[in-house]
Amino acid sequence: MAKPIWIKHAAQLATLASDIKGARSKEAMSELGLIEDGSLWIEDGKIKAAGTTAEVEKRYKDRLSEAGVVDASGRLVTPGLVDPHTHVVYGGSRAREFEMRLEGASYMDIMNAGGGIHATARMTREAPEAELIEQTARRLDSFLAHGVTAVEGKSGYGMNIETEVKQLRVMKQLQQRHPIDLVPTFMGAHAVPPEFKGREDEFVDHLIADMLPVIAKEGLAEFNDVFCEKGVFTPEQSERILQAGKTYGLIPKIHADEIEPYGGAELAAKVGAISAEHLLKVSDEGIEAMAKAGTIACLLPATALYLREEAAKGRKMIDAGVPVAISTDCNPGSSPTTSMPLVMNLACISMRMTPAEALTAATYNAACAINREMQIGSLEAGKQADIVLWNVRSYQELQYLFGVNHVHSVWKKGKEVVN
Ligand code: NIG
Ligand code: FE
Repeated sequence: MAKPIWIKHAAQLATLASDIKGARSKEAMSELGLIEDGSLWIEDGKIKAAGTTAEVEKRYKDRLSEAGVVDASGRLVTPGLVDPHTHVVYGGSRAREFEMRLEGASYMDIMNAGGGIHATARMTREAPEAELIEQTARRLDSFLAHGVTAVEGKSGYGMNIETEVKQLRVMKQLQQRHPIDLVPTFMGAHAVPPEFKGREDEFVDHLIADMLPVIAKEGLAEFNDVFCEKGVFTPEQSERILQAGKTYGLIPKIHADEIEPYGGAELAAKVGAISAEHLLKVSDEGIEAMAKAGTIACLLPATALYLREEAAKGRKMIDAGVPVAISTDCNPGSSPTTSMPLVMNLACISMRMTPAEALTAATYNAACAINREMQIGSLEAGKQADIVLWNVRSYQELQYLFGVNHVHSVWKKGKEVVN
């Protein structure tokens, strides 16, 4: 058996521990369970105890000599960050579109002209599975280097059975060989593929009749996501897809109200989606419906910045009682980043979230948005030992010194994976 690990003397240990069950809203988003001179005892990949150094030392006094000691003096220690919304498996690059957008083209113009999601779909359809595995592994390495220990990943660059299954199998294989926990989402309804142009309802029928059963039979996904947006899928089409997914046990998620207010948040509340994502243009009724239903708002401030749009109203949503999570949205078009620390910084700067709320949104609430809060997202006895040591002294400093990777080291299931 591997020897225990004793992390001690953290300047600040943000455990995120709380008695509240489920996603946190309002004041609960500011309770970080802070411990000064903090300490963790880790065994068999799990956290056995969290407390002050003196408390943990006393509890394990007979076994201290067995342990590998990690001195965290002068450092903030937090749970591994969780990214609950990515499109991390894709082929190719869209650097030229970045240039086109800066020259004035809009995201939807490019997509409607066959670029955008369609361009990545062509490149992903063509890419051999082994190549996708390699490219995605490099991106996961980068996530890990930025303190991220769990990542949700969506299919959706195939929009045909073959490529959707290929993307999800890539994730399954990476689950075996990469330290990051990868949580799969089926997103066949990311765009209407060119073969079905003008026959949107037929594509929806095809997705429900032919794609969902294959995904479910092979156990390739836990969630089912739809791009509910004007010119993509209507709320009615989205609802059909999400309800059909539920019959196979797939939990609904929605890309909602990103470009125009379109009833996506309201639909998320109605179908019992675990989360609604983007929400740049969410209506007041949508916010109210989410607060009532307990739908998590997954906000993506790096995407808003990258598309040069105003960020989502994170402050307003939190004040209205909506539990908020944040994410990179890592994808080749609207947010090619793997930096959750940058996303936390932007949550503060462009959505007026407090440093404490941003940390909760990137750890515990993010874990809730992928149904993993019993395993990850906080540092409590029994949870996975996914831990980050930072080269800053406090959680405020982590958000204040922005745009810089402050990771000192990362531990995944009790093993040091970045140093
Ligand atoms: O979440 N909005 C839709 N889908 C992705 C972007 C995908 C792409 O541009 O490739 C998003 O931003
Ligand atoms: Fe997305």
